Amino acid sequence: MAIERTLSIIKPDAVEKNTIGGIIQLIEAADLKVKAAKMMHLTKRQAQGFYAVHKERPFFGELVEFMTRSPVVVMCLEGENAIQRYRDVMGATDPKKAADGTIRKKYGANIGENASHGSDAKETAAFEIGYFFPGLEIS
Ligand code: CMP
Repeated sequence: MAIERTLSIIKPDAVEKNTIGGIIQLIEAADLKVKAAKMMHLTKRQAQGFYAVHKERPFFGELVEFMTRSPVVVMCLEGENAIQRYRDVMGATDPKKAADGTIRKKYGANIGENASHGSDAKETAAFEIGYFFPGLEIS
């Protein structure tokens, strides 16, 4: 199994609800390592650039509004098969469809306010990690 890196965002809804620690516990319990982390309040421009792949979607404006509403925690996670494994830890995009014990089931409210983001493929992980951690060394 390959060691991979993935980009995680603890979204504004989860930070507002004071659940940063609960989410990081689930990440660490799954044996994913936090390689880099920072708290930041995204600008509209940063959120639009990060989610540019969704810019034609009807929910894009709402997504950018939400992601800029209050601070987020951005992390680079590392581990075996980290991209898929972190997606498993998060659960389905819609918290109502997410399995018990997953981040989105425990902490998400609805498909928009779903507590966390994780990269969905190797190429997107490389783009997303570079977007927030441009100087991160690959060790
Ligand atoms: P995320 O993994 O951050 O990637 C894109 C985000 O768009 C997704 O999580 C959802 O939070 C959001 N999203 C997807 N579908 C909808 C929708 N129908 N309405 C609002 N937001 C959505």
